[in-house]
Amino acid sequence: MKTEETGRDLHIDRVCKQFGSFKAVDDLSLDIAQGEFLTLLGPSGSGKTTLLMMIAGFVQPNSGNIFLDNRPIIHLPPEARNFGMVFQGYALFPHMSVFENVAFPLKVRKVPREEIKRRVEAALDLVQLRAKMDRLPRQLSGGQQQRVALARAMVFTPHLLLLDEPLSALDKKLRAELQDELKRLHRKVGLTFIYVTHDQDEALSMSDRIAIMRDGQLVQHGTPTDLYERPRTTFVADFLGKSNFIRGRVSAVCEGEFRFTTPQGEFLQKTNGPQPQLGADVAIAVRPEKMSVVGAGDEPGNVISGTVAEWNYFGSEFRLVVDAGEVGPIAVMLPAWRSGGAPELGQRLKIGWEPRAGMQVMEA
Ligand SMILES: Nc1ncnc2c1ncn2[C@@H]1O[C@H](COP(=O)(O)OP(=O)(O)O)[C@@H](O)[C@H]1O
Ligand SMILES: [Mg+2]
Repeated sequence: MKTEETGRDLHIDRVCKQFGSFKAVDDLSLDIAQGEFLTLLGPSGSGKTTLLMMIAGFVQPNSGNIFLDNRPIIHLPPEARNFGMVFQGYALFPHMSVFENVAFPLKVRKVPREEIKRRVEAALDLVQLRAKMDRLPRQLSGGQQQRVALARAMVFTPHLLLLDEPLSALDKKLRAELQDELKRLHRKVGLTFIYVTHDQDEALSMSDRIAIMRDGQLVQHGTPTDLYERPRTTFVADFLGKSNFIRGRVSAVCEGEFRFTTPQGEFLQKTNGPQPQLGADVAIAVRPEKMSVVGAGDEPGNVISGTVAEWNYFGSEFRLVVDAGEVGPIAVMLPAWRSGGAPELGQRLKIGWEPRAGMQVMEA
């Protein structure tokens, strides 16, 4: 299945969609390169589906434009856009066999019969279901049905593939399998994938790039590591992975670093955002896995003391919540193999982080 000649760049330009006075998508711009795996990630109700529906052509924006390869597509009906789609439910035709389901988009396009057979078989090979092409959807598992839906969405060599939470109806194990399968497919066919999810792990592990939405707006986009290592706001720092927020007031500023005071004393922070002014309020995000329990001979870095308020064991790690008084509860993730056994509730301990592990974030 070749896509080099059909793939295009998508350019979303200041798109707005209102339902009554409610802005579901609010002045959103985004460029998606040909062949990219782009994930729209955001809480429920943040406008992901509405944006996807505008790309697909099922919802008309109130303003703004969408371009495919520099040509506006906003006036084109969905079928003229040539985009493949996979949605949450399986939405296969229940009375048609797997073969007929996948053949359907080609029949609509009046592709000759011989070619239909060849292309359907190739598409079913891609999702490893050629052996089941005579079955009816109800004779397949949920995962297999979703793979048929994928084959159907790709069989007509679409310009891009739109996927709206396609795995959310599946159980955890099946979802993990299909995540791998989707990534493998994406690498193999080189088609642009625009993938909607509210699952941060799915977004982190599958995407070339993630666009984070909130209240209809695009709040930040970048590669998974960009977003995880350099979130700009408290919202992004806490939505993509977990974060502790240490808040304080800047007490000293030098080249490349600054100090800030908190109810537990003064901490050092490597500047990795805008250089703050003396006296400014700052919020520093620290990932739980970058917090460590500070032992007697350890290099201190920034150190907070507190008591163990909660802990849970996950086999590979212990997750602790340490009550650090006015600084707040601090989540700490400790690799179990080197933690020296289970902590005790109420146990006093010191936890620390390196000045470069903190991430400067804006309150939002
Ligand atoms: N047809 C509609 N009429 C009125 N409100 C809508 C319609 N479609 C979506 N919305 C509202 O727009 C917001 C965004 O919805 P949606 O795009 O489905 O979010 P998401 O996919 O991120 O969960 C929600 O508050 C939803 O209730
Ligand atoms: Mg949705």
